[in-house]
Amino acid sequence: MHEPSAETNTVLQTLLNHRSIREYRPDPIPDDVLHRILEAGVRAPTAGGLQHYSLMVIDDTARLRSLNADAAPLAVMALVDTYRLGRWFQRHGVSLMRDELVSLFIGFTDALLALQNVCIAAEGLGLGTCYQGTVLSADTRSLLGTPEYVAPAGLLLLGYPAEAPGSSPRLPLEAVVHRNSYQVPSDEEIDQWYAERYPDWETGRDPEVRERLAAVGIENWAQWIALGQFTRESLEIESMGLLDNLRSAGFRLPAPWRGGEP
Ligand SMILES: Cc1cc2nc3c(=O)[nH]c(=O)nc-3n(C[C@H](O)[C@H](O)[C@H](O)COP(=O)(O)O)c2cc1C
Repeated sequence: MHEPSAETNTVLQTLLNHRSIREYRPDPIPDDVLHRILEAGVRAPTAGGLQHYSLMVIDDTARLRSLNADAAPLAVMALVDTYRLGRWFQRHGVSLMRDELVSLFIGFTDALLALQNVCIAAEGLGLGTCYQGTVLSADTRSLLGTPEYVAPAGLLLLGYPAEAPGSSPRLPLEAVVHRNSYQVPSDEEIDQWYAERYPDWETGRDPEVRERLAAVGIENWAQWIALGQFTRESLEIESMGLLDNLRSAGFRLPAPWRGGEP
């Protein structure tokens, strides 16, 4: 029997050793290495074999800075792209798939699968990577010259690591894996899973920080994450930027998302 062993299987080793890198050496990534990584990126599965995405390599410092990605010497942005396919269709007398909502979601899926392939290939070749979260609202039209029916889906920083962090915790498998039907957890299970995931608030945090947070009403991890990282306001700003991007790229959005239109 073939055992999928992390000791001998380099793909599994790469996946199980994953950790995001946030400090990079300035050394550029050699062209041949980058080329192999991008080739691995486009080998990702793609809906209908149609590649509804593009990969934008960014190594211009000013552009990296605009995208909050200048910690690394290079970044790859995955773009939903139904422009190229739409142009080809149009040239041959069909108009389909360019602006529909479902094409947009297919494009997102395609784009992120390709980018995660880039991530795995890069890590397999000894590079460090980190996704950058605020890319959905990035103005790629003015920053990168993207045409209609193209919108940002993900951004991955790449470079040689200047740090060696430990792996970060995950919820136990039983919390995220279901079999055949969704197992709604009890309150106790939820508390238990997140208690395993995060250190104890009382003993695992600097008392001074804890005191400062308590003064603004933050007394546990859930409050710290919800109020400190994902405020309603910040999510709304990001959502509006995302919708602006999708609207200006020409995608047909459902009425409640169109904003301003009757
Ligand atoms: C969609 C997405 C957005 C992310 N955005 C950021 C970000 O803006 N800044 C950052 O430092 N890390 C970002 N990350 C990395 C996560 O913080 C990281 O994957 C998570 O903490 C788990 O750590 P690990 O990747 O080392 O296992 C992002 C990851 C994903 C998948």
